[in-house]
Amino acid sequence: MLGTKKQITVISPNPVKSEAAKIAESLSLYPDFYCPNECRHIESLIDATALLARMGHFRGTHTTDVKPRRTKYFFGSGYTYGYGMRGREELLPYDAVDPIPLWIHQHIIRHFIERGFVKPGWVNAIAINDYQEGGSIVAHVDPPHLFDRPIFTATFFSPGKLVFGASFDPQRSQPPVYEQLLPRGAVLILDGYAANEVTHGMRPEDMLGCRRVSIVLRHTLENAPIQGVPLMLSDCFELCNLIQHVQGHWHDPSNRNIYIVQQLDVNVLTMDWSWSGEGVLTTVAKWQLMPVKQSLICNDGILHSDGVFERLLQWRPLQRTKVGSLGFTWIRMENDF
Ligand code: OGA
Ligand code: MN
Repeated sequence: MLGTKKQITVISPNPVKSEAAKIAESLSLYPDFYCPNECRHIESLIDATALLARMGHFRGTHTTDVKPRRTKYFFGSGYTYGYGMRGREELLPYDAVDPIPLWIHQHIIRHFIERGFVKPGWVNAIAINDYQEGGSIVAHVDPPHLFDRPIFTATFFSPGKLVFGASFDPQRSQPPVYEQLLPRGAVLILDGYAANEVTHGMRPEDMLGCRRVSIVLRHTLENAPIQGVPLMLSDCFELCNLIQHVQGHWHDPSNRNIYIVQQLDVNVLTMDWSWSGEGVLTTVAKWQLMPVKQSLICNDGILHSDGVFERLLQWRPLQRTKVGSLGFTWIRMENDF
């Protein structure tokens, strides 16, 4: 049985749309997508998959990732993730994970195609998260340079809460901006603001039962970087042009910061005014440009050739986790050629 969509509404006293409202608007929840009978059947197939994994049935080196209180299974496509990887994630080579099992095509993806949510073939990456009691998934944004939107998540065994914009420090200093209850059998669609502009995750206290399993359905982008695969000649050409163009002296629109690019090094200088009115330049940071496919990454910004103008660079935000983040602009300094 396929459930109907539940409209999520947040009443905000604020005339400016609250962040919670923007998150709610870009989420769609289908609470009864799978009926209890279908859930039971799918859950037995999940158990069989976990058993096969334990017996060493899967050949991919990265199909199974066992962590305390959470096991992940990747099918179709896996990716590098974890601490320190933000913005630098890469897809794993195609044979690092097993193909999508037939039962997932028949019992999961087929419903999404029949409902018109996706076209046949669109779902090419499946992740199964098997959380035990006290399990969690830290605040993150599914890498926008690897995965298309929307992202679909189905919930089995026990319900849980997906929390947006929450911190995971022991004090829980930043409570969630928005919480989405995910009942057993529900499907959540993450798109727009909820998928790109705010983090999502689950803290141990958000698991409402002793075991929750989520099945995540995604489509990998055609131009996503693949680990160990060298750049194509055409990518090299674009990249070389980009690197050549960014060389030199730049300033930000406020004229306060100066960026000196030499090869892939960026020296950041700040102009301070002394009491006598003289400008004093001090080096405040040293950054590195990182080439990824046809683009350059600098901290939280990414530069494609479409952001390159004669005397201006328009960096786009890499992961738009901050409200209103529009990227940043560099302007070429006068007399710099
Ligand atoms: C993920 C994710 C949430 C969930 O795997 O990227 O956000 O519901 N999972 O398990
Ligand atoms: Mn996610």
